[in-house]
Amino acid sequence: MTAETKKEPYARHKKLERNVALFGALAFAAVTVGGIVEIAPLFWIDNTIEKVEGVRPYTPLEQAGRNIYIREGCYVCHSQMIRPFRDEVERYGHYSLAAESMYDHPFQWGSKRTGPDLARVGKKYSDEWHVQHLSNPQAVVPESVMPQYAFLARNDLNAGDMKAELTALYRVGVPYSKTDVEKANDDLKTQADPAADPSDLVKRYPKAQARDFDGDPARLTEMDALIAYLQVLGTMVDVDGAKAQEVLAKEKGR
Ligand code: HEC
Repeated sequence: MTAETKKEPYARHKKLERNVALFGALAFAAVTVGGIVEIAPLFWIDNTIEKVEGVRPYTPLEQAGRNIYIREGCYVCHSQMIRPFRDEVERYGHYSLAAESMYDHPFQWGSKRTGPDLARVGKKYSDEWHVQHLSNPQAVVPESVMPQYAFLARNDLNAGDMKAELTALYRVGVPYSKTDVEKANDDLKTQADPAADPSDLVKRYPKAQARDFDGDPARLTEMDALIAYLQVLGTMVDVDGAKAQEVLAKEKGR
């Protein structure tokens, strides 16, 4: 075969590349089809996050603790997202599920970890440990660079109107009931008051931990709220339970 008779490779593609109008039209068609395939299903599925059993909105006290967490900038050093890598799962526990932060506004995922991830810190330590650690981290971990937050135990909790806060959260999609909103300010106090009956609160917020958190049952402090929040993190979904295993097996099978 001589050079003259050999058919030039990509001859048709060359034609396409030299014809701006044709190339533009075909590129537009390709992007349109791709776009429809990606975007259209979003209009037919109910939710982009798969619902997981156990996930519930925060109680007013946990929510108030979360506000303190944000106010104090804990997120500057702590993430709340365990990634599905072996080193993370072995250190922190089961990787975070999207549904576990679906009621977080704003979410606290983060990627900056001066301290450990806190997505599953709930129930890892006792309340007393948290009080001591937050008051003076170096008393527990001598080399810790975490600042001291002893003032949280001295400050009375001034959470503002939790009814208004829950209403605002409801408007952005957190499924609080009418009763939850009505009782928000009472719930705030009930959860940390050992003298109060928490049964109604626990019925509406399953697995809510009701007790005095800061070691001073006579007062409701910022420490109470922050520890109530820390103790619920990662505990709503029974990730090691049978149901969760089923869900995960299904996820893997997809
Ligand atoms: C300057 C960075 C920094 C800030 C800000 C910070 N921390 Fe920490 N935190 C650390 C470091 C470092 C550790 C690991 C050493 C230790 O336990 O003190 C830690 C550990 C922790 C632990 C123990 C985690 C575990 O699994 O052992 C908790 C809980 C915690 N921090 C909560 C908080 C809260 C709540 C706030 C905000 C009030 C906060 N931290 C603010 C750096 C920080």
